[in-house]
Amino acid sequence: MEGTIPTHIAIMMDGNGRWGKQRGLTRSQGHYAGSKTMENIIKDSLEIGLKVLTLYAFSTENWTRPPKEVQYLMDLPAKFLNTKLPDFMENDIKICISGDIEGLPSHTKKAVKKAVSETKNNNKLIVNFALNYGGRHELISVVKKILSDIQDTKITIENIDEQLVNTYLYTSGLPEPDIIIRTGGEQRISNFLLWQSSKSELWFTDTYFPDFNKKLLLQAIEEVNKRKIKE
Ligand code: IPE
Ligand code: IPE
Ligand code: MG
Repeated sequence: MEGTIPTHIAIMMDGNGRWGKQRGLTRSQGHYAGSKTMENIIKDSLEIGLKVLTLYAFSTENWTRPPKEVQYLMDLPAKFLNTKLPDFMENDIKICISGDIEGLPSHTKKAVKKAVSETKNNNKLIVNFALNYGGRHELISVVKKILSDIQDTKITIENIDEQLVNTYLYTSGLPEPDIIIRTGGEQRISNFLLWQSSKSELWFTDTYFPDFNKKLLLQAIEEVNKRKIKE
């Protein structure tokens, strides 16, 4: 691989359902396979020295899917985080969540909060799960919190600038993504990081997420590095 490793890569992990269907499996089996790929990509991110990996796991629009699939997708984070916690501690991985945590079922919320609090002092790699995340939902929550802080005279209208808005986002404290990768062939933003993606490079692959791997991750980085050389 030539060139520099970016600080923050965000992945829209799309194509799990189609991956399952293609193999005569269920969509949920596709999501399970996707969760195994997620494990590998976290390991790969550590190896290549990435600082922040954001994974789009569940959008605010995904609640409209069939109840069984939603239930499976809400059970996965608890299973994944509880199983992987020792590994995260051993490898100095900090878990963050971007999204409306309060809107999650209680068992999911509990697992998420536990993983965030137990890993809070780790600092080799931040794995930021976008869970119950929607860019518009996030911006509405920012507007509400800013208005409430103005009402409480904590800030004034004159204080509002880009930097201040950043501190009200779910991603407060995290750098903006250098690269946003979308697997699964679609080339749309699907309500992901609407504010934070202002300067991000976008990279698409037809590969369904369960088949995504380190080679493709490095290919994305290399191709984006080449775009920058041409500038
Ligand atoms: C995973 O892929 C994204 C999630 C919402 C978890 P999909 O479930 O959207 O799979 P496709 O796009 O239908 O194949
Ligand atoms: C985007 O994929 C959301 C996640 C990867 C979690 P979707 O499959 O939900 O998005 P659309 O429906 O193609 O816009
Ligand atoms: Mg999809």
